[in-house]
Amino acid sequence: MNRPLIELRAVVKKFPAEGGAQVTAVDGVSLSIQPGESVGLVGESGSGKSTLGLLMTRLTPVSSGQIIFDGQGITHVSDDAMRQLRSQIQMVFQDPWGALNPRMTVGRSMAEPLKLHTPLSEAQRQLAVSDLADRVHLPKASLQRFPHELSGGQLQRVCIARAIASKPRLLVLDEPTSSLDLSVRAGILELLDNIRKETGVALLLISHDLETVELMTKRLLVLYLGKVVEQGPTREIFHQPAHPYTQTLMSANLPADPTAVLSRLPTVGEIPSPLNLPSGCLFSSRCTLVRAQCQQGFPAFSILNESMAPADVHEVACNRVADASHWLTRNHHNS
Ligand SMILES: Nc1ncnc2c1ncn2[C@@H]1O[C@H](COP(=O)(O)OP(=O)(O)OP(=O)(O)O)[C@@H](O)[C@H]1O
Ligand SMILES: [Mg+2]
Repeated sequence: MNRPLIELRAVVKKFPAEGGAQVTAVDGVSLSIQPGESVGLVGESGSGKSTLGLLMTRLTPVSSGQIIFDGQGITHVSDDAMRQLRSQIQMVFQDPWGALNPRMTVGRSMAEPLKLHTPLSEAQRQLAVSDLADRVHLPKASLQRFPHELSGGQLQRVCIARAIASKPRLLVLDEPTSSLDLSVRAGILELLDNIRKETGVALLLISHDLETVELMTKRLLVLYLGKVVEQGPTREIFHQPAHPYTQTLMSANLPADPTAVLSRLPTVGEIPSPLNLPSGCLFSSRCTLVRAQCQQGFPAFSILNESMAPADVHEVACNRVADASHWLTRNHHNS
């Protein structure tokens, strides 16, 4: 069995909120990502996806729990070790305009990570920047330009070039195409997929767009109010989502395919405030299958398939999974 590239053990992140209260953005998440894997992370707005990305890249410290990267504990590391780690774990954000220094040419922006993480000379760096521009299909002329002179799609290519400059082993992508024009999204996703295939970098793709996640990832994590409620092979979860929450999420995204068989699990009410969470299963306040037991402690994970490979295990944290299973089955005629 491969050693996981990154492993989170019971990771918690709390933020201070108004009036001395605390928001638990990530609530005891345990997960692992294998080298070269492509993993999707989905969940409603406010479910803690970005926070989980920031924790994994160590851009924000954990409140409790452990993070292990390539067998080494990285929960608390020195600044020096952090600099080294930074070259291994990179993040691409939703907004490429905000991610780049507006007063620097994009060529200089792309040279920065090389300065930080490689011993290259100035001349070698120029060559490396030119190579990176080729890798992300950015016209050479744009290297002399400033961010405001480039399109959103081109700027995101610059951000991707910066992220891969240090040859990272994990790339966290937080809604990398959602701020871009529809017409350029597919090209960016294809680029990211090719980079993964060519370099073996593992990808964590955070996205609201379920179709993108279905297309781009092999494994899926479903987050609800800071907790993973279901995880497993992407294909399997899309065909047979097991958690009532996953079913709700998927049915909100009805397929265009008219032959898809779909019955909708109704939900009640709105997503609860993270300041006032229900006890027990966090979805219990909206779940139509709720029983008294659901309000007594977070449900244990049940494994739904017999796979022994960690990347293929399909598991769900629901007491009512047997009753929920008939609710939603999607039969695409092309699959
Ligand atoms: N810096 C912060 N300070 C206080 N609360 C925060 C902070 N960052 C996130 N939160 C809170 O933590 C919870 C999770 O937020 P997060 O941004 O991780 O969700 P998300 O799943 O990425 O949402 P979206 O889909 O809207 O991007 C939310 O309740 C949010 O208000
Ligand atoms: Mg977010």
